[in-house]
Formats: sequence, structure tokens, C-alpha cells
Amino acid sequence: MTKKETKQLEQDDKHYIWHPFTQMKDYTEETLLIVKRAKGSYLIDTNGKRYIDGVSSLWVNIHGHRKKEIDRAIMRQVRQVSHSTLLGLSNVPAIKLAKKLVSIAPRGLSRVFFSDNGSTAVEVALKIAFQYWQQRPHPQKEKTRFISLKNAYHGDTLGAVSVGGIDLFHETYRPLLFKTYQAASPYCYRCSLKKRYPECSLACLNQLEKVMKKNHQKIAAMIIEPEVQGAGGMLMSPPGYLKGVRRLCSRYSILLIADEVAVGFGRTGRMFACEHEGVHPDIMAVAKGITGGYLPLAATLTTEEVYQAFLGEYREFKTFFHGHTYTGNQLACAAALANLEIFEKEKALQKLQAKISYLGNKLRPFTALSNVGEVRQKGFMVGIELVKDRKTKEPYPLEGKIGIRVTNEARKRGVVIRPLGNVIVLMPPLSISYRELNTLTEIVYKSILEVTGD
Ligand SMILES: Cc1ncc(COP(=O)(O)O)c(C=O)c1O
Repeated sequence: MTKKETKQLEQDDKHYIWHPFTQMKDYTEETLLIVKRAKGSYLIDTNGKRYIDGVSSLWVNIHGHRKKEIDRAIMRQVRQVSHSTLLGLSNVPAIKLAKKLVSIAPRGLSRVFFSDNGSTAVEVALKIAFQYWQQRPHPQKEKTRFISLKNAYHGDTLGAVSVGGIDLFHETYRPLLFKTYQAASPYCYRCSLKKRYPECSLACLNQLEKVMKKNHQKIAAMIIEPEVQGAGGMLMSPPGYLKGVRRLCSRYSILLIADEVAVGFGRTGRMFACEHEGVHPDIMAVAKGITGGYLPLAATLTTEEVYQAFLGEYREFKTFFHGHTYTGNQLACAAALANLEIFEKEKALQKLQAKISYLGNKLRPFTALSNVGEVRQKGFMVGIELVKDRKTKEPYPLEGKIGIRVTNEARKRGVVIRPLGNVIVLMPPLSISYRELNTLTEIVYKSILEVTGD
């Protein structure tokens, strides 16, 4: 692409596109990167410059870009049909994918409701949980509310925002939202109960139990990001926490919704994060990595018990009156099937284990930096929390844009990452090579040094 063509695109981008989660006033030429192509772990811009895709194109890419098996599966599907509706019809890849998802999902999840992004998968989960209590054999109609966690992120649609817990993103919309019960976040580095793991004996679970004990008759479900609160800052739950949540939900007859949108499909080192603690949710939402980072697709899985509550004579109107236009889209389902086949064929999860340890070793030097408060890792999800003062854990003021500055610095050096406030996120494709991991971590290390002036 010529310099002139690039310039024109830059101008048109600034003229026409309103970018998500972006202060457009700050959106300058310096920060503009127009992706033209990609290959493996690399994004390539209109000038031919290559960048390591350090956050898997917003946590979705799994086996790398231009993976030939996925490319081919989509093209094969294009030659058959690209889209027909799932409302009243079915299609080949959607059926095969639903069967495959049930076979790999945590035990007990037996039905698949397709949608097209993480937020819709969560909306579907919330509505199903709500409606389940209204119309199951022994209805409990007062069970209409939800529990979620501080620092939770479940998407940007209003239901998902209602169960969100990040003030910066969610507070503006409060008048539009339904009320939820909020429990403490298992954010050990900044424990709101001022305790330390493991001496705390998971005191945050006691606090959660108090809320449940008092209100369980009004609570339909608890929604949680299993093992890692992603957008909240890559907050890894302490061992035993997720299992404890499951135990409490069962004790108080509260459905457990596992939002595996970010952590699903190998991100944490297991196919689903719930597997780390042998947890079986009642409802599970998946999206992001489901198509290997190719096409928008999501699914909400439920147990048979939940599904059965929606069956009845038509006139009873127990139907789940919900559906998105592109639900079960063939191209996306074909991509997802190919993605899951690669997991098996290439033994991707087995191979990932050594890479996870390698990444852990590469992260060790970061902990010595004077402005790094904590380095958190679960599988291939990493959060490096920058702090103004390591001793007091005083955060950098958000206005200082420390995370964004590190990101810009990394970009100059050939790495694309995206921070969460003061937390630098690394989440490369699972297929990244050891050499590329070296480059990624070295560039991010240097960028932090440069910006913090360590
Ligand atoms: C845990 C979790 N749930 C839901 C979502 C929303 O997904 P989407 O952006 O596809 O709507 C996200 C997105 O980051 C997420 O991390």
C-alpha cells in the first residue's frame, strides 16, 4: 500500500469511525495503526510494519492468524451457504458445533443456545436464569435478582452492565440498570477485607455467604468470571474460591452462571477455567475464542434441568422468547468447529503447559521493577499492575494514562497490547512461539522501564 493510500485511510478513519472504549479526542496519528494483514502471531500494518499481537486481538485469537485449517473451513462453508436463520430452521455446522461444545463442556451442561458476542451470551444467561425460576415445576417467582462481584465485567449491554462492577465503565448508566447484590472481589493484592491469603481462609466467601443467607429467596443466580476477573484488571482468584462459590450457590439454591467468555477455550491452560476446581456451573456463557478469533459467535450452555423448565404447551408461553438475527451463523460455526479440531489435532493444550511455565519465568524480572506492584498470571492471561509506590501500593492516577503510555511505547517497538487502566495485559495467541514470547516480554519490559523511568 502506498504512503498516499495510507494517509487517505488515516484521514477517513478519523473522519468516520467512532472507536470503542476510546477517547476520540486523543486519537491522533501517533496512535493510529491500520491493520492490513496478519500471519501467525503478527499483525501487519499498511506500511508493512509487523507487530506481535500481544493481546490476541482483544483476547480472541488462539492458533494464530491465517491458520490454514480455519481459513479453509470458512471458505468451504462459503461455497455451501454463509447464513440462514436458526429461528425455525437448522443448519449443519450449528448442529455439529452444539454437539461438540456439549462434549467438551463441564459435566451437566447439555443444551446450547447460540448468539453472537460475549455480552449477548451473558444477556441470554441472565434471562434464562430469571425465567427458569418463574416457570419451573415448583416456581419461586420472587427469585428475580442476581449476585455479582465488585470488579466484574460481563459486557456492555444493559443487563451485562447491571451485573458489572467496574465503576469507571458502569456508574454512568446506573439509572438504567437493574439492582444487583454485589459481593467482594477476590482481588488479593488489594483485599477489601484487609486480609491476606491463605491466612484469611477465604474470608470473602463468608461475606458472600452472608449476602446469600439473608437474600437467597430473592436471588435467581450468581454470575462470575471463573478464576480470572479479566477486564477488572486480570485478578486471579485464590485457590478454593471458585469451588467455594459453587458450594454456596448449591447450599442456597442459587443458579451459578459461569461467564467463560474471556477465560474459555484454553486461555487459563484448561479448555474451560471451571475445570481448575472441578466446578460444574448451571449455565455457562462462551464467546471470544470460540472461533479462534475469526468471526463473532457466542453460546450459552445450560443444564437439562434448566432447559426442561422451558418446555410446555405453546399456550403456556414458556418459550424462551429471545434470538439474534445471526444466531448459529454457518460461517462462524464452521470456524469454531475447525478451531476445536485444531485443539485436538495439534494437542494445543498439552503443548501450552510448558509455554505457560516459560512465560512465568520470563515474567519474573518484572517483579523487581520499582513500579510493578504485582505480576499476576493464570495460564496465558497476564496482568502487570503498575503502582506509583510499591510499598504503599499507591496507584498511579488514571489521568496519568500510565498504561496507555506503556502501550504506545511497546507499539513503537513492534508489540500491540492494550492496558486495563494501570494494568498491562499480556495475552498472546496460544500458538505463539518461544522466540516470539521472548520478544514480547522483552519489549514490554523495556517499555515499562522507559515510561516509569525506573
Ligand atoms: C468475562 C467477559 N464477559 C463478557 C464480555 C463481553 O464480550 P463481548 O465484548 O464479545 O460482548 C467480555 C469481554 O471482554 C468478558 O471479558
